[in-house]
Amino acid sequence: MNRLEHLLENNKKWSAKIKAERPNFFPDLAKQQTPEYAWIGCSDSRVSASNIVGLLPGDIFVHRNVANQVIHTDLNCLSVLQFAVEALKVKHIIVCGHYGCGGVIAALEDKRHGLIDNWLRHIQDTANLYDRILAKFEDKNKKSDKLCELNVIEQVLNVGATTVVQDAWNRGQNLTVHGWIYSIKDGIISDLDVCLENEAELKILRKRFL
Ligand code: CO
Repeated sequence: MNRLEHLLENNKKWSAKIKAERPNFFPDLAKQQTPEYAWIGCSDSRVSASNIVGLLPGDIFVHRNVANQVIHTDLNCLSVLQFAVEALKVKHIIVCGHYGCGGVIAALEDKRHGLIDNWLRHIQDTANLYDRILAKFEDKNKKSDKLCELNVIEQVLNVGATTVVQDAWNRGQNLTVHGWIYSIKDGIISDLDVCLENEAELKILRKRFL
């Protein structure tokens, strides 16, 4: 039986290195988590939340799914958001997509992929919504990369529209939603300039790209 010994061995080395550098790191973390950031990202193995922003365990509360979707009936994502906002009191929610996202590319293809097509349907709805923008792109890769950006923007709007975030803003809780996109080619994140801090900004952003 292959018990993935090499990964468990890596883990021991990683733990030993952190203990040597910061002896109180794990005892402090074990007491509580106090992350300032919640992250909604793609499941893609190349986009690891903490790593690409240079943070450590304990710094980011993470939810990942195919193509970083925020769907209003997804209890998994909504529960993560609720715990992050109401219990951990994160100050920032980051939706981070990435160029070359397989989920976005698959959504643009006119073929069956199986069960996941029901998930990708949401990205196709986003593509339909922004058809006027996407129609300008003839190159297939440029078009899907544009949809990767628009998909992030749409999910930022969806985060802002959740009861969790709406209630937080109504309470006067300091909470900003950010839309970022990561390039796998050079490891650089771009801010899509769609930050939301309140309901008024949500309404303006909703109209900005339509
Ligand atoms: Co992806």
